Amino acid sequence: MADDTTDTKSSNQMWGGRFASGPDAIMEEINASIGFDKKLFAQDIRGSIAHATMLAHQGIISTDDKDKIVHGLNTILSEIESGNFEFSRQLEDIHMNIEARLATLIGPAAGRLHTARSRNDQVALDFRLWVKEELQKTEQMLTGLIAAFLDRAEEHAESVMPGFTHLQTAQPVTFGHHCMAYVEMFGRDRARVRHAIEHLDESPIGAAALAGTGYPIDRHMTAKALGFREPTRNSIDTVSDRDFAIEFLSIAAIAGMHLSRLAEEIVIWSTPQFGFVRLSDAFSTGSSIMPQKKNPDAAELVRAKTGRINGSLVALLTIMKGLPLAYSKDMQEDKEQVFDAAESLELAIAAMTGMVRDMTVNTARMKAAAGSGYSTATDLADWLVREAGLPFRNAHHVTGRAVALAESKGCDLSELPLSDLQAIHSDITDKVYDVLTVEASVASRKSFGGTAPSEVRRQIAFWRARN
Ligand code: ARG
Repeated sequence: MADDTTDTKSSNQMWGGRFASGPDAIMEEINASIGFDKKLFAQDIRGSIAHATMLAHQGIISTDDKDKIVHGLNTILSEIESGNFEFSRQLEDIHMNIEARLATLIGPAAGRLHTARSRNDQVALDFRLWVKEELQKTEQMLTGLIAAFLDRAEEHAESVMPGFTHLQTAQPVTFGHHCMAYVEMFGRDRARVRHAIEHLDESPIGAAALAGTGYPIDRHMTAKALGFREPTRNSIDTVSDRDFAIEFLSIAAIAGMHLSRLAEEIVIWSTPQFGFVRLSDAFSTGSSIMPQKKNPDAAELVRAKTGRINGSLVALLTIMKGLPLAYSKDMQEDKEQVFDAAESLELAIAAMTGMVRDMTVNTARMKAAAGSGYSTATDLADWLVREAGLPFRNAHHVTGRAVALAESKGCDLSELPLSDLQAIHSDITDKVYDVLTVEASVASRKSFGGTAPSEVRRQIAFWRARN
């Protein structure tokens, strides 16, 4: 958990007055968050610099003290960045660690930094800043994944593969079309990320413990300095709200679900039985005992990471659900969930982007599979509707008989002789063979959003302009 330290000062001593003794060892262990919230050091320092600058601007502290504070905080920033900072578990969390070090560096002026604020608005600020940056990173990574799919879709706008429902061969589609389905999914994820950034773009600092403050602070000034659109409007909500973290986790859970479905397809496609794709050596592993094996471990781990992300979402929802307003210490448990999910999501997006870019697509295997399983049966039925004027339900029935016959002969629909087809329905002519190939089937599906190469190219152009 938290680090050991040589610093013997505890936060109880920092509180002074009411506390005659330090905490029990177990109290310290359950209470300390420095082991994980030290990740927030840069946000904490940025927030403190903005706060101190505002305090001086408003005449609440002197410019001289502000200068000392800002200088000291910048020194601490470089100490932490260069690994020369000793984190202390007795000081509980990142906020107290930095404040205590500031006191050592600059003396009594350090004590003025915490004027008109509380750790409650401080932690809400630090965590929001962190989540905002993470969302921005996620947005960029999703854009990279979408770009990878757009390239593969363009390359394979005409490559025919079987489309599935119930994982049974349904109708031929193009691999480009299938890739574009993922572009839609990750495009929605990215839109959710953008909305979440808008939602959280309000500055918490200045809400203080929960009620605001009597000091003449300027919350619009700190909001602007920290890159937020505006300050939050209700101080009670501000310190008790973790929606921004829960939104991040729910977006991560949905994106994780999409990544997991893709991972599952890659696992299936790369089996020798399917053989649709071959993963690059860079994204697969061997077996310690079976020399022939090439395992899709990265895809399997992406599938598994989804479980962790879902766990984090459920954990934070559960942590928050019974809390009365405003702040409760339960909320300290928010960070590990978000940090862990963020790490998993980043890894999963990066791994899938690499896999999609690197995998070799076996178009011959895909095409052969596309033609099996009577995948053009619907095209025969549609032909009967169009050319022979049958109602679709009757055409469906006639086609079913043709499929049964082909099955009993062990051949494909296009291999049935015309005499056999005419015995089933006398209006069938040899023109029907034109629609029974997979290419013809795919090319005919020109409805908006359909699988025809021309439509797939339209979809690609739409997303290229957006990406
Ligand atoms: N470490 C705490 C957290 O992460 C900081 C806020 C503490 N506030 C308090 N009133 N004890 O939530």
